[in-house]
Amino acid sequence: MKQLIKLKNISKIYKMSDIQVKALDDVDLVINEGEFIALVGPSGSGKSTLMNILGCLDVPSSGSYILNNENIETATEGKLAKIRNENIGFVFQSFNLLNNMSAVDNVSLPCKYAKMRTKESRRLANEALKLVGLENRRNHKPYELSGGEQQRVAFARALLNKPSILLADEPTGNLDSNTSKEILDLMCDLNEQGTTIILVTHDRDIASIAKRKIKLFDGKIVDDLQKDVI
Ligand SMILES: Nc1ncnc2c1ncn2[C@@H]1O[C@H](COP(=O)(O)OP(=O)(O)OP(=O)(O)O)[C@@H](O)[C@H]1O
Ligand SMILES: [Mg+2]
Repeated sequence: MKQLIKLKNISKIYKMSDIQVKALDDVDLVINEGEFIALVGPSGSGKSTLMNILGCLDVPSSGSYILNNENIETATEGKLAKIRNENIGFVFQSFNLLNNMSAVDNVSLPCKYAKMRTKESRRLANEALKLVGLENRRNHKPYELSGGEQQRVAFARALLNKPSILLADEPTGNLDSNTSKEILDLMCDLNEQGTTIILVTHDRDIASIAKRKIKLFDGKIVDDLQKDVI
């Protein structure tokens, strides 16, 4: 199986005026293509910090990160943006949708930043909305959608560039259990189609769906369990 991610001795120290927080402490991690990983651990254990580094939204204080055979720690800001665009989709707990824009416009926003032509970006956005089962809600604004539908719009936006890695930081944190299930089914489908998924969750049931469970505590990986394939 192809190795997608390799972290070696990754540490992240947040320096404040009076204190220092070691959010990640010497983390080693290898992730292969096609994995479905649940990242668990108590509040403050470093889950979001790790996700942000994996997603190239932040850089480690020390250590090395190889993503798709590229060395991330030496990449410039422009290069990081390109790597994000080509490889990574990100979904957050709060859906981060713009309220005055329709679903299709929210989804196509990354294309606008990439200066793509409107017609092409609409086509891609409609395709992504179809993938999450919301083609018939494309003209709804976020406040005209249910919580689960809003999160599916956020997934559609993250899937627009057909990323090989989908990072989701508590994507069901604001949803009830039925709606969480919709989102979970969506992630299982995506994983079956080959997308590597890394998901942060506090929900045991959701974590149990993943094929591998990694537990963080105080910035260190304290457990890394692979579910046996029957
Ligand atoms: N931007 C920042 N500046 C300073 N300290 C930070 C920053 N972001 C996170 N921290 C600290 O780093 C540690 C890890 O935070 P992180 O957000 O990664 O935890 P988490 O596991 O995602 O927690 P939660 O489950 O509550 O979301 C915490 O102690 C936090 O206070
Ligand atoms: Mg967090």
